[in-house]
Amino acid sequence: MAAAAETRMLFRNIDEPRLASIRTYKRLGGYRAVQKAFKEMAPEQVLKELDDSGLRGRGGAGFSMGKKASFLPRGDMDKYLCCNADESEPGAFKDRELMQKNPHQLIEGIIIAARAAGANRCFIFIRGEYDLQGDILDKAVEEAYDAGLLGSDVLGSGEQVELVVHRGAGAYICGEETALLDSLEGKRGNPRLKPPFPAVQGLYGGPTLINNVETLSNVPHIISSGAEWFKSFGTEESPGTKVVSVSGDVRRPGNYEVELGIQTRKLINGLAGGTVGRRKVKCFFPGGSSSPVLTGEEGLDLPYSFEAMAEAGSMLGSGSIIVCDERTSIVQLALRTARFYHHESCGKCTPCREGTNWTVKMLERMVRGEATPIDLDTVASVQTNIIGHCLCVLGDSMAAPVGSMVEKFRPEFEQALERGVPSLNDRGGAGRGAQRKGREAREEAGHLSMAGGR
Ligand SMILES: Cc1cc2nc3c(=O)[nH]c(=O)nc-3n(C[C@H](O)[C@H](O)[C@H](O)COP(=O)(O)O)c2cc1C
Repeated sequence: MAAAAETRMLFRNIDEPRLASIRTYKRLGGYRAVQKAFKEMAPEQVLKELDDSGLRGRGGAGFSMGKKASFLPRGDMDKYLCCNADESEPGAFKDRELMQKNPHQLIEGIIIAARAAGANRCFIFIRGEYDLQGDILDKAVEEAYDAGLLGSDVLGSGEQVELVVHRGAGAYICGEETALLDSLEGKRGNPRLKPPFPAVQGLYGGPTLINNVETLSNVPHIISSGAEWFKSFGTEESPGTKVVSVSGDVRRPGNYEVELGIQTRKLINGLAGGTVGRRKVKCFFPGGSSSPVLTGEEGLDLPYSFEAMAEAGSMLGSGSIIVCDERTSIVQLALRTARFYHHESCGKCTPCREGTNWTVKMLERMVRGEATPIDLDTVASVQTNIIGHCLCVLGDSMAAPVGSMVEKFRPEFEQALERGVPSLNDRGGAGRGAQRKGREAREEAGHLSMAGGR
């Protein structure tokens, strides 16, 4: 297999010591894009450049960033920009690294995006558990205020852009954009009925642009080097690069920035080192735990792009690959996935509240070997009844992967009806574990200690 390499745009200077300080960021060319956006470009030109770049949202849905910004009404009113830094999806840890190591890249992106959308009040909604990253952002925001990049007169332009870092209280649902808005307003984080969409009626009832950390971190590069340059990376429908979090049964879990459209095998087997002990890839989640799984045979040779993953019946989502090798019990995997979404369901709508609960109950019965064939059909039909019927897509986020597991690995579920399934961690039996060769055991130990970051 050809050697895989990263293509670094957002990660270009990521290993530079003290990159989180404004001094280092500026020394490496940072905040030149914001100068250009405020001194050489009208807001409409900034918006057009973003739209022309084809940048798609990196938070899950992959919607065009420029189009979304253009939906905000023009005119003199308070408009808001919320950066979604909730990152609670199992398998996703890219925003954490982007904020921790290069907070000014994000802040510069926010200031420029605010100009494009005409927003004057901005927030970074960061998950409560990201304490370190929250502190780093607080300091970086203070530095940006001191440098005149934020405040009532950005770079002497007369334009106002305020930015507040707000810590969430640790609920996955608050990553859903309208629940995020409720939480920011001081309410319980529950999704709102849409329409109206946030671009029209969002935070405090005002027009609001909501974008993910990685999406906004792309913005300075597009403004500095232009939409055409940006489109020279990636595919026609998925321009640019993607920071991909790779985890699970791989030897080198971590964040890798690659051109969109790279062969998925190069990401998993090349950059992430392949599976421990060169085991077969049984399946993988291409876009975090909410994406339908693809088997190794189906997915490894596909280009890693929004369109290829959608055509294969899954999604690129937040760009977080979780690899499961041949030892994985799919029934246990389905149960673990369902438990997460059941726990995180806000309970506001019935299909999600009841559907996640019943799915967990039926899968628990299967694992114990107490389920009947009717239970298996019910598990499958509950998933189809959830999809498209909830207030937000949290319910779908369980139903799509669990449904894909039942569809692709049905014989394993049928087997479980008779015999049950041992625990997910007891893969291959205790005897085999004890006899495992030294190198493999060391690899696995290294893998566990690195899990979740580089
Ligand atoms: C349950 C749920 C959780 C979500 N969590 C996140 C999250 O942690 N971060 C994120 O950027 N988007 C998350 N999203 C997607 C957001 O609703 C929204 O689409 C995204 O922030 C838009 O930004 P983008 O267009 O830049 O991707 C979540 C969606 C749902 C339904």
